[in-house]
Amino acid sequence: MLNFDNIPVRPASNTPNGKGNGTTGFGTASTAQQVAAATTANVGTGVVPPSVASVTGSGTRTPAEIAAAEAALPSLSFEPSAPQVNMQAGGTASMQTVKGAGLTGLEEINFKAARIRVDDKKIINCRADLNQLVPFKYEWAWQKYLDACANHWMPQEISMSRDIALWKDPNGLSDDERTIIKRNLGFFVTADSLVANNLVLAIYRHITNPECRQYLLRQAFEEALHTHAYQYVVESLGLDEGEIFNMYREVPSIHEKDVFQLQFTSELADPNFQTGTYQTDQRLLRNLIGYYIIMEGIFFYVGFVQMLSFGRQNKMTGASEQFQYIMRDESMHLNYGVDVINTIKAENPHLWTPEFQQEIIELIKQGVELEYKYAEDTMQRGVLGLNCSMFQEYLRFIANRRCKQIGLPEQYPGAKNPFPWMSEQLDLKKEKNFFETRVIEYQTGGALSWD
Ligand SMILES: [Fe+2]
Ligand SMILES: [Fe+2]
Repeated sequence: MLNFDNIPVRPASNTPNGKGNGTTGFGTASTAQQVAAATTANVGTGVVPPSVASVTGSGTRTPAEIAAAEAALPSLSFEPSAPQVNMQAGGTASMQTVKGAGLTGLEEINFKAARIRVDDKKIINCRADLNQLVPFKYEWAWQKYLDACANHWMPQEISMSRDIALWKDPNGLSDDERTIIKRNLGFFVTADSLVANNLVLAIYRHITNPECRQYLLRQAFEEALHTHAYQYVVESLGLDEGEIFNMYREVPSIHEKDVFQLQFTSELADPNFQTGTYQTDQRLLRNLIGYYIIMEGIFFYVGFVQMLSFGRQNKMTGASEQFQYIMRDESMHLNYGVDVINTIKAENPHLWTPEFQQEIIELIKQGVELEYKYAEDTMQRGVLGLNCSMFQEYLRFIANRRCKQIGLPEQYPGAKNPFPWMSEQLDLKKEKNFFETRVIEYQTGGALSWD
């Protein structure tokens, strides 16, 4: 059993560096141009979720009131390590001064401080107390938290008995099919740990909004559930745990994807990293895109298609169903990430420079290449009605969607979806009892749309 009680937490005090404090799970790794609308509403000059546009007018303050409220804020327990910078807003001559980092929620509580208003809240670099959930500014984040709770499920509630019988039958599955299952378990069982570590140790501190943090906490629990689900499948089938859990260190295509992701975590988890400058705010945005768009939006999808293809052929129905529930969660993680990214862009348009957009496009293209290598590595011959050229087309199709979602141009014009059935797999109500396993309709709200 995995022990979920020992999640390492960065100490509240500002230690000079992390050395000597044990390992965190990731080692040392190595102007303003608004873009076209993404899938969320395009409000004014920025791409923002609808709720961002709806908050104006509620509790608007005069400049004098804002100045008074800022003066009453508690002092920070740290000094931002990076100097304040001026930068040129892309394409214009205007200069914008970046103020310091936001609060963490660990500051001294300011007794009798002015009450927090919606206008005080910001998704990054917020200087208003973070320990108060309401009033909501980002309704979409709270709604996603509620929807995620409505989708609650547990791995043990899915029967694995048919899978066990099939796996133990020497003629039940081909060698190629067994390789696909083992490699996917090998990739995912550490991938979700990387995502969870990134949430807890890198992102959480820098997202300075309570309703967004509320969703992050729910997401972190879901990542733990996903790791639990993979462990449960490994244990049920009696697989070699050493082989599966070490694949990220022994199988090149898995290793390369994980190394690619860790670069994003390592820089933000540095205790000296603070947002509040042009450069560091871009690094945070880069991390969010690296995880929500590339990891959860591209790196998971070859495995999802492969594992769900087993279920469609009435094979490994329990494992397939575990992945089906996981994909539903991941779809929401991705949608949340898209909203966070687009909100940060809307509130900080100077970050989205042409150079930065190009950097992101290159990362997404690199992600497509790495995922294609993974497809080749998991499936050297056509099997289950799938082959590698289908995955090449699919990854291009997915990458186009991801680019569009965050307001970037599509990089693979004309790419088509070879797996249109994937969208149906998100609707578990439709699939109830299809696999004749014990399916419980957890979904009581939060209709999901294919993204
Ligand atoms: Fe996950
Ligand atoms: Fe996730």
